[in-house]
Amino acid sequence: MTSIYAQRRAALAAQLGAGGVAIIPTAPERARNRDSDFPYRHDSYFFYLTGFTEPHAWLVIQAHGHTTLFCQPKDLEREIWDGIRLGPLAAPAALGVDQAHSVSELSKELPKLLENQTTVWFPFATHDALTAQVDGWLTQVRARVRMGVSCPSAQQDLCTLLDEMRLVKDAHEQDTMRRAARISAHAHVRAMQTSARMLRAGQDVREYHLDAELLHEFRRHGSQFPAYTSIVAAGANACVLHYRADAAPIRDGELVLIDAGCELDGYASDITRTFPANGRFTGPQKDLYQLVLHAQHASVKATQAGARFNDPHEAALRVLSQGLLDLGLLTTAKHGSLEDVLDKKAYAPFYMHRTSHWLGMDVHDCGSYIEPGEANTAPAKADPLTGVMVQPRPSRVLHPGMVLTLEPGLYVSPSDDVPEAFWHLGIRIEDDAIVTATGCELITRDVPVEVADIEALMRD
Ligand code: GLY
Ligand code: MN
Ligand code: MN
Repeated sequence: MTSIYAQRRAALAAQLGAGGVAIIPTAPERARNRDSDFPYRHDSYFFYLTGFTEPHAWLVIQAHGHTTLFCQPKDLEREIWDGIRLGPLAAPAALGVDQAHSVSELSKELPKLLENQTTVWFPFATHDALTAQVDGWLTQVRARVRMGVSCPSAQQDLCTLLDEMRLVKDAHEQDTMRRAARISAHAHVRAMQTSARMLRAGQDVREYHLDAELLHEFRRHGSQFPAYTSIVAAGANACVLHYRADAAPIRDGELVLIDAGCELDGYASDITRTFPANGRFTGPQKDLYQLVLHAQHASVKATQAGARFNDPHEAALRVLSQGLLDLGLLTTAKHGSLEDVLDKKAYAPFYMHRTSHWLGMDVHDCGSYIEPGEANTAPAKADPLTGVMVQPRPSRVLHPGMVLTLEPGLYVSPSDDVPEAFWHLGIRIEDDAIVTATGCELITRDVPVEVADIEALMRD
């Protein structure tokens, strides 16, 4: 049986054009300090094509489908310190590549693979010094032109092909993402319940206590890492969009915003929940929460094959803007009608990020947000906030298997124009959605979003 990785390599090879050669390095190891490294994480493109997670590895794919892997050689001494290596001898059977060499042979073997080919494909602007390395190999090939060898004369960005392939998730990827999402959802439940339980017991609750619960749940289900730095934000900290889990006290009566998701077998999940630390929403908290929730419902309804990537955002903006008028955070006297609020982006002081991003191996996954072939087809328009002329960018048409987040929010800084009851509230609700023919599948709903469900779960 051909592995999914071999299928992907073949699909990529078929797009390289006659004489094309693709070069894909994995990620480097990165020093944290002295001789301690950051935990190693492979390169996503490389993993997509190999499933191989060792460092110091390269994949070369030729247009006719021949594949070559370079990997760490077997080395008893190093393996005692760092762990077992697959090694080039075992690699063809284990990974289905045609040929494998020690990575120490890279500079000798790579020019040979480029001889008499036309185009070198590699990921542009993703690996330090890769362009210089490719130049070096091309120089070696060119030195042999006198011997009748021809040298590639074109370089192409491999990301353009791989990003499109990665944008639509196959059944294996969707299954992994569902499992990652389920673990993350249970981690959120655990953090919510811990918050209420510790407060009921009169304990000092800190943001890091809830972070510890998230990590515990991620790891005990086999997740290798958090997919990104977790946010655990007590009270006003929720209004800092890139806040991290720090040491602030979590107080009775405040909201807590947690944005955290695990990475499982190379795939990310990304969930935000906002909940009352003690398990019971106050009136103003509930009003603002329900508004964000309605906006999220609208964005969910707008997500289906054939819709555009921007449709969930537009749907959320409409609900949020109307709600800001209804709750008095914006006023008709000052901001005009709903259409005025939308046109002039009067919601922007409260909602300054977008509703969605692609999700996959990377939390902000690759893939163009603009529909191919439709860029630059409409006239430029002035941005209402800055006056800068902006080229409208017809957003991507959604297809089954694309995965995106739906994450509207509201963040209220103190201001004389805003009722004081809402000051310092920061609320975001984020779920992960797989696009289907008729709608979308929310894969993160093992943690609830409805007010009554959150209160019930934190009571028990
Ligand atoms: N956690 C990153 C994001 O929501 O985009
Ligand atoms: Mn997100
Ligand atoms: Mn998030």
